[in-house]
Amino acid sequence: MEVLVTGGTGRLGQELVPQLRDAGHQVRSMSRRGAGPGGVRGDLATGRDLAHAVAGAEVVVHAASDPRGNPWEVDVAGTRRLVEAVDRSRPPHLVLVSIVGVDRVPLSYYRAKYAAEQVLLASGLPVTLVRITQFHGFVDELLATARRGPLLPVPMGWRAQPVDVADAAAHLVEVVAAAPSGGVVELGGPEEHSVADLARAWAAVRAPGARVIATPVPGRLGAALREGAAVPARGARGRRTWAEHLHG
Ligand SMILES: NC(=O)c1ccc[n+]([C@@H]2O[C@H](COP(=O)([O-])OP(=O)(O)OC[C@H]3O[C@@H](n4cnc5c(N)ncnc54)[C@H](OP(=O)(O)O)[C@@H]3O)[C@@H](O)[C@H]2O)c1
Repeated sequence: MEVLVTGGTGRLGQELVPQLRDAGHQVRSMSRRGAGPGGVRGDLATGRDLAHAVAGAEVVVHAASDPRGNPWEVDVAGTRRLVEAVDRSRPPHLVLVSIVGVDRVPLSYYRAKYAAEQVLLASGLPVTLVRITQFHGFVDELLATARRGPLLPVPMGWRAQPVDVADAAAHLVEVVAAAPSGGVVELGGPEEHSVADLARAWAAVRAPGARVIATPVPGRLGAALREGAAVPARGARGRRTWAEHLHG
């Protein structure tokens, strides 16, 4: 099929584009500069070049996002611009990459992702919303950033079920080949952990001697993550474990 991947230059996109090509699809990879093989330009913040990028696509995997910049402009208004750029006489299957817990975790970025889901659900187009847990590589980076010399402070009691980005891409390849679900599907990693356990395993490999200090986080965010708001309730599971990621 003709597949457009938005966010093709991102952490997930770089894994997904080659996997889709290996599965036999014609793949275009959208980013602001149109970088890389099969690259096309498109800017969700302005709408520029979106109609050209999306033209002829049978499936759009919408993986572009701006978590550190302006997700309300790029993820929410940008998803609306993407919907408006679609040719309604030949509507593609729109697959949105979302995050497990966007409906429960009180973070501004998660609220924006949830709002982007609503834009697609209201669009009248055939859609599948794929909520995924944190990628191993992302957790790896977060823990490296959290480390303060010999100490690694982490939130007490938070639950997580990270997944390998290659497993997430493989799942999306299956979603591309399937009929639109019309709603939410979830994907998590093979094992649930406490964040403190993830950190202890990380420290043993990446920062031997560093001590994990679990600290209570008050408020609604802390409560939601202790209650498992970021852990998938159902759906598919990736195969690669956190330990395999760390030793891989
Ligand atoms: N990271 C995680 O652990 C995780 C877990 C679950 C779900 N997700 C979701 O998975 C998706 C991909 O995440 P990721 O970690 O791969 O993201 P990423 O590495 O931050 O990549 C973001 C992508 O979005 C593109 N982008 C940013 N602003 C844009 C704009 N204005 N117009 C067009 N493209 C724009 C970037 O392209 P250029 O900068 O090259 O233009 C890049 O390709 C996101 O929707 C995220 O919410 C992530």
